[in-house]
Amino acid sequence: MSGLFSPLTVKRFTLKNRIVLPPMANNMSDESGAVTDAHIQHYVRRAQAGVGMVIVEHSYIRQDGRVNKQQLGIYDDALIPGLRRLAEAVKACDTIVGIQITHGGGKVTRETAGTQPVAPSDVLVPGASEPARALITAEIEDIIEAFAAAARRALAAGFDFVEIHGAHGYLLSEFLSPLTNRRTDEYGGDLSRRLRVPLRVVEAVRRVVDEDHLLLYRLGANDYMPGGLTEEEGREAAKALAAAGVDLLDISGGLIGAEPPNWDGTTQGYFVPMAAAIRAEAGVPVVVAGGITDPIFADQVIREGKVDLVAIGRAMLADPDWAAKAREKLAST
Ligand SMILES: Cc1cc2nc3c(=O)[nH]c(=O)nc-3n(C[C@H](O)[C@H](O)[C@H](O)COP(=O)(O)O)c2cc1C
Repeated sequence: MSGLFSPLTVKRFTLKNRIVLPPMANNMSDESGAVTDAHIQHYVRRAQAGVGMVIVEHSYIRQDGRVNKQQLGIYDDALIPGLRRLAEAVKACDTIVGIQITHGGGKVTRETAGTQPVAPSDVLVPGASEPARALITAEIEDIIEAFAAAARRALAAGFDFVEIHGAHGYLLSEFLSPLTNRRTDEYGGDLSRRLRVPLRVVEAVRRVVDEDHLLLYRLGANDYMPGGLTEEEGREAAKALAAAGVDLLDISGGLIGAEPPNWDGTTQGYFVPMAAAIRAEAGVPVVVAGGITDPIFADQVIREGKVDLVAIGRAMLADPDWAAKAREKLAST
């Protein structure tokens, strides 16, 4: 079988199928950012239905990167035992599990982060409620180290992989976009300069994430905004990230978020063409999310070789048994 229920091997891991639970913030923590029983129930419930890969929701690497007071955290070693409980519970469901690490950049608020939002430049990031102040170089160094420290905690907790959040207008996506990165130092300017901070984060995290673990990057590959990151630039960025050590690219939108503008709410796989073009050039496996609800559609995307993995977000929130039902449906057709 070469479709949705065929295995996929990436380095030492063999995923039992091509279904991914993408990162989806549940805001089930208290203000410490700790894992709760609700998290464990939520992820185990979905993993048990037969998901090949689970990506735990965006977890903040530093207090000033927190977008929601109930957001999951990975900013302190004290959080490792809770994260370990989550990783172990999901792994026991015979799935590969990792966690997304993030800094909210200009999209935090003073209330959630305890300080003025920070971004590459003094801008009001699209979708943000407060203007951000530009990071100085020393602060950028600290944030790169905070990403690496968060990755170390993820591995200490027993996760199989780490996903760096570089999409949806959060900090690393802001560095990539010419709309939010107007820096005149080495971290701003043409694409190669705007890519430097994301690449430095990949390099720092890769030093922690050894060859026995995977490094994923969620790339916002197109801002869909006038003057923003273009799809062509997104493809270039994908190639550079893969060359820097990313094992698997997770393709989504940039400043615009997880949906393109004018999405009609029903068309499935809206990022598939963009992800397929990236897959053809980047030389690493690709996962894509976006409006996919029908197992037959998902199976087709895999069979046609457009991407390697499909992520089923809202459909799996709505129906935790999506994966089990997909197996039955495909077996009967
Ligand atoms: C409630 C909710 C929370 C989300 N949280 C995150 C997140 O933490 N990190 C992320 O990269 N994307 C997040 N997303 C985007 C999803 O991962 C996914 O890309 C998006 O929902 C499109 O896929 P779908 O149509 O299958 O739901 C979230 C989406 C939803 C609906």
